[in-house]
Amino acid sequence: MLMTTPTRRLEGKVALITGAASGVGKCTAKLFAEHGAKVVIADIQDQLGQAVCEAIGSSSSIYVHCDVSIEEDVKNAVDIAVATYGKLDIMFNNAATLDPSKYRIIDNEKTEFERVLSVNVTGVFLGMKHAARVMVPARAGSIISTGSVASNIGGVASHAYCCAKHAVVGLTKNVAVELGQFGIRVNCVSPYAMATPIATSFVGLEGEAFENLVNSLANLKGVTCVTDDVAKAALFLASDEAKYISGHNLFIDGGFTIVNPSFNMFQYPEDS
Ligand SMILES: NC(=O)c1ccc[n+]([C@@H]2O[C@H](COP(=O)([O-])OP(=O)(O)OC[C@H]3O[C@@H](n4cnc5c(N)ncnc54)[C@H](O)[C@@H]3O)[C@@H](O)[C@H]2O)c1
Repeated sequence: MLMTTPTRRLEGKVALITGAASGVGKCTAKLFAEHGAKVVIADIQDQLGQAVCEAIGSSSSIYVHCDVSIEEDVKNAVDIAVATYGKLDIMFNNAATLDPSKYRIIDNEKTEFERVLSVNVTGVFLGMKHAARVMVPARAGSIISTGSVASNIGGVASHAYCCAKHAVVGLTKNVAVELGQFGIRVNCVSPYAMATPIATSFVGLEGEAFENLVNSLANLKGVTCVTDDVAKAALFLASDEAKYISGHNLFIDGGFTIVNPSFNMFQYPEDS
């Protein structure tokens, strides 16, 4: 029998998205709502978060202030999702921070390293923990976390960020093994560079200058990685179409992380 994809792929589902006031989280919140989900927008940027909610509409979304490094905030956000919409089907641990580019490890401060890990690793751990608290009794759920190309390779971000994103994959694998027995899927999405505040402030370039730089370093040419590409990957992993996918780190990187730049055996001559 030919199976057709429903046009509204998250009809009746409830999603909580951290870091949803901006960038990937904001784009995903809008896409999830278009596909029929009720969405809890969680962030520390209250005005921007409220604006995302207003854009989606108050019948389908709610904003909650949530610093993902604070357990009480994460617990509260999950409880608000359940109190408002009756359940939690999708947890998207997407919020992250990045430290200033001090490349030499001897210049890196312990306090700064720990700050990045408290948001990017502990924040994901807390999101998984409190999602599991309500998903295990329901025997269903999809937990997605945002990694990065830095979840797989070195040399593209700070030590703290690279370490944190590798840890997100480790957590994803371990929690996928634990929660599989309850029918809960746990996955990552790992994007290449996109022009969002976290990346433009790190690189120190905006607009066309940022785009030109990241496109020149990309493997896949003729296209630019944008937040919508990640939102669509998250939509797939959140939906029932991904019902047998768990423990996976889905790269949205145009093949960037599989290239070994020391070899260029496939390089065509300029005039071809
Ligand atoms: N933009 C890129 O190039 C890129 C590449 C790879 C991975 N990522 C990842 O994508 C995810 C989303 O980032 P983005 O590109 O949309 O950046 P962004 O700067 O647009 O959004 C990040 C959001 O996280 C929020 N946030 C930061 N600290 C928080 C905290 N303690 N609690 C709750 N919210 C907090 C910010 O307020 C912001 O709204 C992050 O996990 C990031 O590491 C981004």
